[in-house]
Amino acid sequence: MQATTSSFENLRNDFPILNRRVRDNKKLVYLDNAATTQKPNQVIDAISDYYKNHNSNIHRAVHALAEESTEAFEETRDKVAKFLNVEDSREIIFVRGTTEGINLVAYAWGRDNVKEGDIIVTTEYEHHSNIVPWQLLTQEKKAQLKYIDIDDNGELMLEQLDDYLSTGKVKLVTFSHMSNVLGTISPVKEIVSKCRSVGVKVLIDGAQSVPHMKIDLTDLNSDFYVFSAHKMLGPTGVGVLWAKKEILEKMSPFLGGGDMIREVHKYETTWNDLPYKFEAGTPNIADVIGFAKAIEYLEKIGMDNIRNHELELTKYALDEMKKVPGITLYGTKEPEKRGGVVSFNFNDVHPHDVGTIIDKEGVAIRSGHHCAQVLMEKLNVAATNRASFYIYNTKEEIDVLISSLRHVAKVFKL
Ligand code: ALA
Repeated sequence: MQATTSSFENLRNDFPILNRRVRDNKKLVYLDNAATTQKPNQVIDAISDYYKNHNSNIHRAVHALAEESTEAFEETRDKVAKFLNVEDSREIIFVRGTTEGINLVAYAWGRDNVKEGDIIVTTEYEHHSNIVPWQLLTQEKKAQLKYIDIDDNGELMLEQLDDYLSTGKVKLVTFSHMSNVLGTISPVKEIVSKCRSVGVKVLIDGAQSVPHMKIDLTDLNSDFYVFSAHKMLGPTGVGVLWAKKEILEKMSPFLGGGDMIREVHKYETTWNDLPYKFEAGTPNIADVIGFAKAIEYLEKIGMDNIRNHELELTKYALDEMKKVPGITLYGTKEPEKRGGVVSFNFNDVHPHDVGTIIDKEGVAIRSGHHCAQVLMEKLNVAATNRASFYIYNTKEEIDVLISSLRHVAKVFKL
């Protein structure tokens, strides 16, 4: 389906929250989608229907409700696999979100495979969730954490990766597919192929990419890939870790408890098959089922159409923002190399002041360090403002953003 601008506008009717008035009865202009996206009726209704009509635990009892709930939960797993072109849905592990997915790998894979002197490589534009678990692991194991720096354009300096790989000590290279602050899209295939050629494992943080572009995990050929449902119209508290079956089979469990076991005796336990070995305890059943509706919704629009829509909005926003007095834009000047995220600052005006002023006009952006303080240090700022777009945003909303930013410039006489 080739989506038109008007078909994107029509879909706003599916999102009740977009009719909200905020502050002084201002129309809500929601541009904080990199933090979390809004939910369509289809997702909200599926969760409510689950609790009203099907609520039960899964994988346990044989009664009707248990069977219905188990089926709907497992259908979501199949849907996720198909959405990402994964052949075997046992490779899809449900977790609470990207953060838990990365921690699962750091604990369950990292503690068995990383030893003293080994190197884990990450990048300067990572979210804290792709830095802190590796700091904990490397400190515990007396291993080393190294960074691929970014250049003035906000792009990775890949020659540094070559240097690290040439040491023969690298065990894992981990990076975000798309930066949550700069919007930079990483050269994924190049990184994977460099790592493959020397047998190094690759983990990709897809929190900001899966919601916005077509992702084919078979084609990307990394070892681990993680993302969250709530940044792609789904509920909070649901995420996915995908990993190759051979790796998952060899990995130790992460959390111990119900559902992840085959047999438990007084002093020993054997593990359940994949994927259950990594899904201890009662999972977030309702929200996993709601997530299926989010995927259906995105598939109906088409991921390529979504990418094009956001690219159009981003180009427009970058062009218009450049004209606002006193503004500094971060990241690449080539919109094709970034997703729908624009970070900016106004001379020495604190981002919280900018966020507060434009919030009075109903414009919601994020101001702060975006859980990326290593990147803030690199940019030599404490914080930035960040506008981030999604399927329901319009050029008219960007016009409201621009006029509110012009107002900021006037208030601070820039
Ligand atoms: N990771 C989210 C963000 O970038 C919360 O805002």
